[in-house]
Order: sequence, then C-alpha cells, then structure tokens
Amino acid sequence: MTPYPAAVPYGRLLDPAHRSDPYPQFAELAREPVHRIDDHVWAVGGHAEISRLLRDPRLSAQEPAEFGPDTPLGSDGQPFRGPFLRQDPPHHDTLRGQTMHQFVPRILGLRPKIEDLVTELVDGLDGASELDVVSALAYPLPVAVICELLGVPRSEEPVFHGFAARLTRALDPPESFTSEELADVAKTREDWRAYLTPMIVQRLTEPGDDLISGLLTDGDPAERMTMVELATTLGLLLIAGHETTVNLIANGTLALLRTPDVLARLRADPDLAPAVVEEVLRYDPPVQLTSRLTTADVRIGDTNVPEGDRVLLLLAAGNRDPRRFADPDRFWPERPDNRHLAFGSGVHYCLGAALARMEGQAALTAIATRLAAPRLVADPPPYRPNTILRGPAELRVAVGASAQRFTTA
Ligand code: HEM
Repeated sequence: MTPYPAAVPYGRLLDPAHRSDPYPQFAELAREPVHRIDDHVWAVGGHAEISRLLRDPRLSAQEPAEFGPDTPLGSDGQPFRGPFLRQDPPHHDTLRGQTMHQFVPRILGLRPKIEDLVTELVDGLDGASELDVVSALAYPLPVAVICELLGVPRSEEPVFHGFAARLTRALDPPESFTSEELADVAKTREDWRAYLTPMIVQRLTEPGDDLISGLLTDGDPAERMTMVELATTLGLLLIAGHETTVNLIANGTLALLRTPDVLARLRADPDLAPAVVEEVLRYDPPVQLTSRLTTADVRIGDTNVPEGDRVLLLLAAGNRDPRRFADPDRFWPERPDNRHLAFGSGVHYCLGAALARMEGQAALTAIATRLAAPRLVADPPPYRPNTILRGPAELRVAVGASAQRFTTA
C-alpha cells in the first residue's frame, strides 16, 4: 500500500505495475532541480545535485530513533543506532574504518575464487535448454562469496540465503509494513544475532584468519565493536552485498540480451567486461534511490528545503541525467567518462564496490561466453515489488543445444 496516488509521478514510481520500466517516472521527477513529494518529502534527480548533496554534512543518514533503558551501547558509549550505513560521522567513520581494514585486504585476492564459483555454478547447468539466471547464478554467487569472506562453511549458505531475504525486507520504507511485518523485522534481527553468537564466541576462543576473527581481535581492545555492533555490521555486509549484486547480474544479463551487438562484442572480447559492468550500473542501477534527513535549512536550486525534511536522492535519475550523459537511455559500454552514481558518493560510498565489480564481471563474462545463443523467454521479466533494491524476480533464458567451454581471461 502506498500513500501516494498513481496520478503523481512518485505514486507511479512506487506502483509495482511500473516496476519493469521506472525510467519515465524518474525523468519526470528530475525535470526540476527539486521535486516536492509532500509537505516534508522532496526528490532530487540531477547528477550534479545528487553528488553535491551526498557530500553535504547537513544531510544526515541517521533515522530518528527512540532509546529505552534496554537499548544496548555502542563502542562510543552512546545508545546503539543501527548499521553504520545509517549512522553519521564520527562514529560511522570509526565503524567503517574498522570494517574496511578487514574487508579490503581480503577481497584483493578473491577474483580467482569468484571465477571458480561462477564456473562451478555454470557447470551445474549441464547443457540445460532453459535456465533462470536469478536462481541459477545471480542469487547463489554473492552468498557463496560473503560466506567465503566471513570464513563461514559452505554448509551454512542456505541459512545465510534465508537471512539475506528476511533482512533485506527490513530495508523497505517502514510505511509499507503491516504491524505483523514490523514485528517480523524485529524478530529477524534477534534471530540473526542469536544465530551469529556461537560463531562469534568460537572465533573469540580460536581466532582464524577470517573477517569475523579480524574484527574481534585487531586494534585497540577499548575501541573494538561491541557484540551488537559486530552482529549488525555482519548483517549489513550480507544485505548490502547480496540483493544489490543479484540485481547487478540480472539487470546486466537483461541489458546484454536486449542489445545483441554488445553481447557479441563481450563474447568476442571478455576484456570489455569492466566497461559493460560500469554501464549496467549506470543504465539500470541495483540501488535506485537513497534517502537523507536535513539537519539545517538547505538550498537546492531556488528552493529552500527546511530542516528536518526527507530528501530522496534518485540515483537512477542522476545516472540518466541528459546534462551529464550523452544519449542517456542508450546502453553503451564504450561511453566516455562513465562516472555514475550507482555506488553513491561521500562518506557512505559503497564499501563493497570493488567486490561487486568482480562478481558482476565474472558472471556477465560467463553469460556471454558460456551460453550458446541465449534468448530471453519473457521480456519484460517479472519483477520483485521492491522500489529501492529493484530487480527481476526471475530471468528465464533459453539456450542453444550445447554450452561452450568457459575460458577465464
Ligand atoms: C552492485 C552491487 C552494489 C551496489 C549497486 C551497491 C550500492 C551501494 C550504495 C548506493 C551505497 C550508499 C548508500 C547511501 O549512501 O545511502 C552502498 C553502501 C554500502 N555498501 Fe554497497 N552496493 C553493492 C554491493 C556491495 C557489496 C558486495 C558490499 C559488501 C559485501 C556492499 C557493502 C556496502 C556497505 C557496507 C555500505 C555502507 C557504507 C557506509 O555507510 O559507509 N555493497 N552500496
């Protein structure tokens, strides 16, 4: 249920009937520098304005929170405020810094492992004449990668998979929840912490060389994450890195199959994969918008947006801003200067961008080089209802009689 009628562009954007092509709605919302959605909600769709606002410290990523006597404390001694994606500096920077310190060195050597995982998944298709790219490749790959990174055994992948879906639902706007769903969101967070606790305790007693052990044992003990911060950060890595990467792979496959000349070029030259992935991220971004609250009056164009209002930053609109990108509705990997907004900007710039790129490049290269004559079975495919993390629910692809051998570059 959305409180906005279909007569207004934002109402149409939220309406699942428009999910397969939200871009006319985004273009309408981006027609003016700032579009008033209602009394205290605004939308911004220009590339330059979004880039500027994502770096403006007067826009806060923190949601208003109520603290009670049972609220646990964070490592700054303040009531815990949730994942660092939804916290402002300075504590955001501390938690992000500790996470990056463990995350970055571990992903550097991960490319061959990701290519092996993709090969294994594609080999598993074993000459099938039709496949669903979402369930066969896009869903299992990011879960396997995050389990590898956290040092979680592969037998736990189905459990992670289940939590990813439940925790991701918790990211949708609270006004779209029934009271039962709100209770389920709270229960999911509790279940996640209960599930992780034995894993954390085991690594406290016997630290390994995985990311969880690193977060538990590295640095000054007085500054380390509290248990609730650690469980929340691991949940953030799972949800921020899961559905987003699923959508990158599914949106990329869709764009390639709709643009056979690009598919043919990628098949002939897998070195084109990085440019293809950047163009998918611009053309059909997995995270379509993000939101901030103003902590002071902020001028956008000729409009004064008052303190305390919500500003929706329409990344998908900024990525097709005709003032920034020539021929913005064309899927064109060779476009020059493709500095899109798919990973955001400023202090919350995506921490997993390099990993997402590796996964996207490996998966789309496999689609182009290993599937013989792939064709879409349904166009447009059915979409999941989510507005923000938007992507196909399934993507059925028919393939020729035999799959070719996959060769890694
Ligand atoms: C194509 C895939 C991905 C896309 C499009 C994406 C997009 C984004 C965006 C737009 C933000 C900023 C949100 C905001 O400013 O409100 C963000 C933040 C974040 N992303 Fe990603 N992401 C992807 C994959 C990943 C992966 C694979 C991981 C890790 C495993 C990850 C971890 C994070 C984290 C931890 C943040 C919060 C950063 C902070 O608050 O400092 N993301 N991502």
